[in-house]
Amino acid sequence: MKDQLDKIREDALKQIEASDALEKLNEIRVAYLGKKGELTSVLKSMKDVPPEERPKVGQMVNDARAIIENRLEEAKASLAKKAREEQMKREVIDVTLPAKRNNVGHSHPNTIALEEVERIFVGMGYEVVEGPEVEYDLYNFEKLNIPKNHPARDEQDTFYINDSIVLRSQTSPVQVRTMEQGKLPIRMIAPGRVFRSDEVDATHSPSFHQIEGLVIDKNITFADLKGTLAEFAKELFGPETKVKFRPHHFPFTEPSAEVDVTCFKCGGSGCRFCKGSGWIEILGCGMVHPNVLRMSGIDPDEYSGFAFGVGLERIALLKYEIDDMRLLYENDIRFLRQF
Ligand code: DAH
Repeated sequence: MKDQLDKIREDALKQIEASDALEKLNEIRVAYLGKKGELTSVLKSMKDVPPEERPKVGQMVNDARAIIENRLEEAKASLAKKAREEQMKREVIDVTLPAKRNNVGHSHPNTIALEEVERIFVGMGYEVVEGPEVEYDLYNFEKLNIPKNHPARDEQDTFYINDSIVLRSQTSPVQVRTMEQGKLPIRMIAPGRVFRSDEVDATHSPSFHQIEGLVIDKNITFADLKGTLAEFAKELFGPETKVKFRPHHFPFTEPSAEVDVTCFKCGGSGCRFCKGSGWIEILGCGMVHPNVLRMSGIDPDEYSGFAFGVGLERIALLKYEIDDMRLLYENDIRFLRQF
């Protein structure tokens, strides 16, 4: 029995010595120490050993098991160490190599222009508010004094979701939403995306951006509107800039005007940029129509106000002298980096 045990132990140790992989060590463990392993079968044959010898033989089996287990653990540890050393050799990091450049994007000209416009109006005490891009016909048209069948609806050739819901064709509905909240006075601008069923070309896109402005208080007059927009134009295009108000029609303001600024390229003498006229149109505006005030729950005998609407792309194209609106939507980083 002793010889048999010695042989088993020696065989096991020899095999462990020769192993070069963890799987092999596992196989050896199963072959010798497992349920059907060699040592276990020795234990099973104990019934043939005379009873007085059994404790001694049992002790020898346990000793052999302990030795094999120990050696297996040692071999496992040394294999793991070797694997780690090899991995360290393989994965040398050269800390002197230059770091990878972290590519950050670039603000879009629309964003830069919007932040500029927001800075100017926030500086004059305006709040920046937002409204939904999917809007009720009621807000986009009706409550802005544009009833069903009004020709102004054609001009804005709208995307309809259903009979009563549209993709807003202007930011003007945010005027109504703000007035309906009932907090007066109001001084706000509302930037956002608008939609019209326009073909794409150098000056049109089915989706673009506007910035709406609204002031409601007691005793607001056209003089306030003029002063505000003159100041805005100077801040945006330079202190020499002059403004011109041309009478116009918008259903939700009365009187209404379109505003031109002196061409910041030629100073007003006429150049290619302003097509020789010396003036560049930048926005629409007017005194809020009494019907609009009334429909939003404001008494036109007590309060008055002005509103304006600026095309954000128009400002960005002018300010950065970009001659094709489509460039704004291509998101080519080489283009964007120029601003
Ligand atoms: N909503 C007008 C448009 O999209 C622009 C506009 C004109 C807005 C006059 C105004 C305004 O608030 O008073 O053409």
